[in-house]
Amino acid sequence: MTKIAIVYGSTTGNTADVAQRIAQALNTPNPIDVLEVSQLSPDQLTLYDFLILGTSTWGSGDLQDDWEYNLRIITPQTIQNKTIALFALGDQQAYSDTFVDGMGILYEHVIAAGAKVIGVWPAKGYEHTHSKASLNDCFVGLALDEDNQAELSQERIDEWCKQISRSIIS
Ligand SMILES: Cc1cc2nc3c(=O)[nH]c(=O)nc-3n(C[C@H](O)[C@H](O)[C@H](O)COP(=O)(O)O)c2cc1C
Repeated sequence: MTKIAIVYGSTTGNTADVAQRIAQALNTPNPIDVLEVSQLSPDQLTLYDFLILGTSTWGSGDLQDDWEYNLRIITPQTIQNKTIALFALGDQQAYSDTFVDGMGILYEHVIAAGAKVIGVWPAKGYEHTHSKASLNDCFVGLALDEDNQAELSQERIDEWCKQISRSIIS
């Protein structure tokens, strides 16, 4: 049975909260572990077939601190040929030109390490001016804004989980 891990880095708790909400929204009988990236060793990562990685963005377009310190877990040895979905928390009003940049940074690393990324998400309905996580008219994963659009988050989570669930083989 496909083993799933949701791995997140979170400074004030928003991404941690969304990681739990994604675990609940995934409609699958597969076991799901929700793990903080700072607690994870590279060896542990190899135990999972399907990874969902979440980060917030800090500074001006920087990856969340725990991810920054633990990016070394993302290597060809740990994730090559695995299927990965990404999600991110950001603030499109105060940080309009670096909105969810952290997800773009994670994306570059997982692609370089040889993983396959699924779960792109339409950028319609967001008001940012620039994002490193943009891919044509989409984001490379689910973008959420608990600072300005919290009321839209659950619907977005449910829809995205429905989409990525199709790629999880029981
Ligand atoms: C000092 C500071 C810098 C931030 N920089 C960015 C940024 O560059 N881009 C962005 O999209 N969000 C930015 N944010 C917003 C956070 O990413 C957002 O509040 C997020 O929900 C925090 O999630 P966390 O509690 O899981 O870390 C920033 C917030 C603060 C307070």
